[in-house]
Amino acid sequence: MKGYKEIIASYANVPGGIIEAYHAIQKEFSYLPEEAILEAAKVFNLPVSEAYGVATFYSMFSVKPRGKNVIRICESAPCHVAGAAEVVAALERELGICMGESTQDGLFALEFTECVGQCQATPVITINGKPYLNVSPAKIPEILAEYK
Ligand code: FES
Repeated sequence: MKGYKEIIASYANVPGGIIEAYHAIQKEFSYLPEEAILEAAKVFNLPVSEAYGVATFYSMFSVKPRGKNVIRICESAPCHVAGAAEVVAALERELGICMGESTQDGLFALEFTECVGQCQATPVITINGKPYLNVSPAKIPEILAEYK
């Protein structure tokens, strides 16, 4: 695992590098640790409030620790109508956590998302950005098994 200092340093001279650096850090740690945000403020020569502002402005960044594999359930209307609520219930049951929480072993986090552009095959979930289409409660154990 790369350290956040090393990651930030590698984007120091890239235009808009702070966002790229945050993406890379989040990929490694699954969230943006406070020390990483402070380090980014230093390296990109920004007030700490601004470095935090960037981290909290974009919904794809999390400043709270969360599970390594981020499962997002689309809650926009087409997925909702197609039964997203049953998929949510199945995920919560299978993982033993509620939406917005992470499993104790640090493996999974459950979050909602807006439409991810796959409305032709609702309901849709994504895991670490990879879409799963036409998801049903019965498919959940099999999908999760890929990440255990
Ligand atoms: S509404 Fe769920 S993917 Fe578009």
